[in-house]
Amino acid sequence: MSTDIRTVVVLGAGTMGSQIAAVAALAGYTTALVDIRQEQLDHARAQLRSRLDRDVEKGRRTRADVDAAWEQLTLTTDRDAVAASADLVIEAAVEDLKIKRSIFAELDRVCPPHTLLVTNSSNIVSSRVADATDRPEKVCNLHFFNPALVMACVEVVPHETTAPETVDAATAFVESLGKTPVRLKREVPGFVANRLLNALRREAVGLYEDGVADFKDIDLAAKTALGHPMGPFELMDLVGIDVVYLIRLAEYEQTGDPSALPARSVKEKYEAGDFGRKTGRGWYEYPGA
Ligand code: CAA
Repeated sequence: MSTDIRTVVVLGAGTMGSQIAAVAALAGYTTALVDIRQEQLDHARAQLRSRLDRDVEKGRRTRADVDAAWEQLTLTTDRDAVAASADLVIEAAVEDLKIKRSIFAELDRVCPPHTLLVTNSSNIVSSRVADATDRPEKVCNLHFFNPALVMACVEVVPHETTAPETVDAATAFVESLGKTPVRLKREVPGFVANRLLNALRREAVGLYEDGVADFKDIDLAAKTALGHPMGPFELMDLVGIDVVYLIRLAEYEQTGDPSALPARSVKEKYEAGDFGRKTGRGWYEYPGA
């Protein structure tokens, strides 16, 4: 466990938030997962239960560790009650700047002065939410990857006035989760890993839209020629086409660069509500999802 942080609150019980909360609880932190919708919390609980039970079955974790994590984890809609005793809040809500700014302003009011406020956003850099608080030095990005229970990397990204102690505490926290912190020197939308991924995705979607190859064959090439665990289209379905779409829009909004806008085929899937694994259909079909 990190020395300064004992109590963790994760806001947003979507794919990322729920697994981040599980990771914190598994590492022994007293953890609360918060969502404004009870049904989202119920869904997160069921998903986590089946994931963690499967890890036990497969011998990846012990039953005792998983039971201990459930003891540490509370799922609640009462954000302010849990925020009042948080040492660290990880915001993993929707990729919408206005919403994030109001969340950070409210957190600043209800959390104790020492609480670190971080955002899991990969695209909304923390300087854009830090000035909604009176503690910008305690704000940074802590960017996890999907699936957060599995992926090792967590990017630690300070903004110009993040205190070095905040970066150190955030880094120590990531290490205490058994994950690998990757520290950036300064903020840039997308950070490092997503910028690499975006370059690959842009090219993949371009090849598909230009009729050069089917998306399945592009995935096949990424896996069999480059050794990637998943192709770029499979990965969009895992991450969520809604997330991909909103990230591109946020980048466009921050940079004004028209090449950042979501590709036509991604926009079509977004507008059709075909978000990938979570809706049962994206680039691929997921019966029973
Ligand atoms: N949640 C939790 N655990 C999962 C999972 C999920 N959605 N999907 C797979 N796993 C775990 C499970 O333990 C699974 O075991 P079971 O099959 O017994 O459940 C185990 O991984 C192995 O899974 P698979 O056999 O299905 O497939 P795999 O060996 O290919 O591993 C993977 C799955 C770890 C997801 C792997 O394919 C992989 O590393 N893919 C690339 C993921 C990646 O690039 N993530 C970054 C996305 S970008 C991002 O997140 C940033 C952003 O800001 C949008």
